[in-house]
Amino acid sequence: MPYEERIIDQVQSANEIVEILSQYVPLKKSGRNFKGLCPFHQEKTPSFMVHPEKQIFHCFGCGAGGDVFSFLMRYENLSFPEALRQLAEKAHIALPEASEGKGAKSGETEQFYEIYRFAAEYYHQQFLDPQKGKQAREYFLKRGFDMALAGEFRIGWASERWQDLFIFLSKKGFSEALLLKSGLVFQSAKRTLCDLFRARLLFPIHNLQGKVVAFGGRVIDDQGSPKYLNSPENPIFYKRRELFGLNWAKKFIDREHPRLLIVEGYFGFLRLYQAGFRACVATLGTSLTDSHVQLLHRFAEEAIMVYDGDKAGESASLRGLEVFLEEAVSVKIARLPQGLDPDDFIQEKGKEAFQKILADARDFMDYKLEILLGRFNRSDSFGLMKITQEFLETLVKIKNPVLLGHSLRRLSASLGVEENSLRSELEKLKRKVEGAAAGRLSQKKDPQPSSSLMPSDEMILLALAVEQNKWRAILLEELEAADFTDPQLRAFFQMLRNLEEERLPIHRYQILNRLEDEQFKEKWAAVTALDWAGEQQEKAFEDCLRKLKKKRIERRLENLRREIAQAEREGDLTRVDIYIKEYQDIWKESK
Ligand code: CTP
Ligand code: MN
Repeated sequence: MPYEERIIDQVQSANEIVEILSQYVPLKKSGRNFKGLCPFHQEKTPSFMVHPEKQIFHCFGCGAGGDVFSFLMRYENLSFPEALRQLAEKAHIALPEASEGKGAKSGETEQFYEIYRFAAEYYHQQFLDPQKGKQAREYFLKRGFDMALAGEFRIGWASERWQDLFIFLSKKGFSEALLLKSGLVFQSAKRTLCDLFRARLLFPIHNLQGKVVAFGGRVIDDQGSPKYLNSPENPIFYKRRELFGLNWAKKFIDREHPRLLIVEGYFGFLRLYQAGFRACVATLGTSLTDSHVQLLHRFAEEAIMVYDGDKAGESASLRGLEVFLEEAVSVKIARLPQGLDPDDFIQEKGKEAFQKILADARDFMDYKLEILLGRFNRSDSFGLMKITQEFLETLVKIKNPVLLGHSLRRLSASLGVEENSLRSELEKLKRKVEGAAAGRLSQKKDPQPSSSLMPSDEMILLALAVEQNKWRAILLEELEAADFTDPQLRAFFQMLRNLEEERLPIHRYQILNRLEDEQFKEKWAAVTALDWAGEQQEKAFEDCLRKLKKKRIERRLENLRREIAQAEREGDLTRVDIYIKEYQDIWKESK
């Protein structure tokens, strides 16, 4: 962690969660807490809760949750250091330099934004320049776009020359080290610094705050290769988080029917935008990640993938779409005729025809089922098994129970298989998947069956221990790190112990500051957000503690059984006797 915990705590204390979040979400008082419409998914009745006592937020609808940093990271699509910086600025706290490398200056992030802002304006001016930008403008216009659109998206031109941008930015006072790190220049074999983009038409990539963080560049003579070149990742650009055009699209999403179109290319995006299909984004030449989908989900309930005609049939491309199901966004596939991308299609056939393509978009499930039915024969038992299996593998990822029920009914109807038997197959598969996931996390045997809905006993115990000192004392007294099977929780327990031993004063809500994994924070917030009565808590605590202790005993007994068997095999009867005695003692004690 580049920043000291002390600073993080300080920034957090200065940013009261209700005060900060209400700048983004209208909140109403509801008992001890505050309530509002969740900004992370579309909803009509509020399920977004903010807890001032615990300094967390949690949405009962979509599960988003965490502390004030998590909120800003999600809402503004920021990294942790960026969120920290913003909140520090709000509170007028001067951050010391992040301790990554000597060259790191405070405000480095700001400097990268500046570099990209200057670069975008420079390249756009080159594009507009009567002489220098002539070729580029001709290309752009020849493809059927106009100058107003070029202005709106700040289309740029990087000339053939090697150092134009480098010289321009150096004159602005940016150091070579910083420029190199920005990715806009690179060091040639002769060790001179050169511009990354040369002889390319540039699409600036804007983040959600409307700042340029990268470029996509296309050659205009179809000679140079590769056809497209994108900025490398840099401190303000993480590919897996950005979607081209979202900053525009978000203003055009229909509130009644919030959906977004997703296309593969920059030109496809521009064409759709020009034709009036403005709730649209383009992926940046990469596959969709879960971060992309989480981001989309804040603005839309449904996505329509508009695939290029050449790729539509590929079931391989379907696999990537399951990430939508995991994030509970419904997804449809719009198919273009062979050989056409959205840009070509609208040029050739017009907007009305495209509108029809959208109306005909197939639900992802239907589409997948159709492909499976085409691949296997449902009238033989092997085919039936394969279809069911592959389809259930998709269904297992669906989080939304309504959607799941719907899909199961449909599968049942088209295969002529009882819905109940599909359900029980699904349950089996679910257990297998969760077992495998838990197995990856912990090497121990009998991992907690981790359901995404029910917090584990271990989690509940720790959350309660943070809540009340007396429980923390009991826990530290009675348990040890090894009693926790979940590695993250084991580490968490260890952290509590360390804090206690060092007698560090710490606000209980600042415990979250010690966690780095946002997903873990989210789960943590979900448990912490539970509002239960005092005696219920008491009971839950005792219950979970008893279960964990019981498990410990079971583990010890299990180990002893193994030792006994081993000693028997070796014929060491003395050892057998000792172990058996020990076994009986533990067993009696546990009764
Ligand atoms: N892409 C990329 N790098 C490549 C190829 C493609 O980043 N080497 C991305 C670009 O965002 C591009 C998209 O993938 O827009 C789709 O690629 P393609 O279909 O080849 O390009 P088009 O957008 O159709 O561009 P054009 O019409 O100019 O060929
Ligand atoms: Mn194209």
